[in-house]
Amino acid sequence: MLTHWREICNREMAMSKSHPEKQAKRERPVRPPRVAAPLLSYRPRDPKRYRPGIALVGCGGITKWHLTAYKNAGYNVVALCDVVQARAEKRRDEFYPEAFATDSFHDVLARDDVEVVDISTHPPVRPPLLEAALRAKKHVLSQKPFVVDLDTGQRLADLADEMGVRLAVNQNARWAPHFSYIREAVRAGLLGTIDAIHCDVHWDHSWVKGTVFESIRHLILYDFAIHWFDFVTTVMHGSSAHRVYASMARSATQTIAPPLLAQALVEYEATQATLIFDGYTRFDRLDRTLVVGNHGAIRSEGPTTEHQRVELATIDGIARPKLKGSWFPDGFHGTMAELLSAIVENREPSNSARNNLASLELCFAAVASAERGEPVKPGSVRRLPEDV
Ligand SMILES: NC(=O)c1ccc[n+]([C@@H]2O[C@H](COP(=O)([O-])OP(=O)(O)OC[C@H]3O[C@@H](n4cnc5c(N)ncnc54)[C@H](O)[C@@H]3O)[C@@H](O)[C@H]2O)c1
Repeated sequence: MLTHWREICNREMAMSKSHPEKQAKRERPVRPPRVAAPLLSYRPRDPKRYRPGIALVGCGGITKWHLTAYKNAGYNVVALCDVVQARAEKRRDEFYPEAFATDSFHDVLARDDVEVVDISTHPPVRPPLLEAALRAKKHVLSQKPFVVDLDTGQRLADLADEMGVRLAVNQNARWAPHFSYIREAVRAGLLGTIDAIHCDVHWDHSWVKGTVFESIRHLILYDFAIHWFDFVTTVMHGSSAHRVYASMARSATQTIAPPLLAQALVEYEATQATLIFDGYTRFDRLDRTLVVGNHGAIRSEGPTTEHQRVELATIDGIARPKLKGSWFPDGFHGTMAELLSAIVENREPSNSARNNLASLELCFAAVASAERGEPVKPGSVRRLPEDV
């Protein structure tokens, strides 16, 4: 069976080279054999012994997942800080009852037992906090979206170098099991040269009603889609996109302020990517990712980002890896684990601030394109078109 499948693939490849027009007449598709899934390193990887003191700054909604991941990983959270002290105390009581809870950022930075500061406020108030933490020679993990201004991001990345510390971004979808496995499959060369990346997400984002998120005009293309722009950027690893074309619209029946429908088309030299976001899907929710190469294709599909089935098709047959974990909370483990590993190994983290700027370039270009109704070159828009 295996030989048979390989023979058919080889024959079709040869035929498409010599007689492309004969492709239409090829024989009836044969069910490909099931093969073992390649073992790829898609899980978060902790350094062996290094468990530095961590301070969490900004103790809002999302930090439940930071702390769930850190507790599971055996991390040492020693301080929690929020301008609303009760929020810091709440998270302390839930996760690290021995830790110090405060509303004073200054007191956090003054502590010798804090080596790493995890800053999880919203982006507009974050740069001065990032800067102060770096100047205090703390390693820093910043929540996403990292900055609203690429030049500010660049300056912060340079400052981290100057201070001899690491600055990473909590771009946690990178360690969502399906995204991580797909990226590693591409990195391992299993798909060959990448022709296409297509993602479509159909879900309901109305949960933000009445929260700060409802005031973000580009809630979908900026705050949400940054994870997908980052996915495309990491799959394309080092290749620069030439143009981005995006659009957005309000669904006729949506009940919150920001437009919930958005789509983006990204052009590379010889690769195309599309991202579709239907943020007001009431029925039949769906989340799909497909990456196509000349040696294979990989897809992931499920009703939500948390429940995904991955399938890899190559000349050997079809592999269906059984992936462990889920985006929440494992993604939050992955970003901190990578920062800690980079500190120990004295190298730049793969989720470094500098690395993240390429994803933000795509994101800002898409937002500008949706505003202007024309294609935009990534990198040409230095600042998010509208303050958020
Ligand atoms: N998957 C994900 O990675 C994910 C999901 C949700 C939110 N987020 C991001 O996390 C960030 C925060 O989101 P959230 O849902 O927790 O918001 P939130 O509004 O619930 O919390 C923000 C918190 O920051 C505190 N804060 C504000 N200024 C502060 C300061 N100067 N010092 C200390 N604390 C301060 C606020 O009091 C509040 O408790 C946003 O950038 C958002 O995009 C990421």
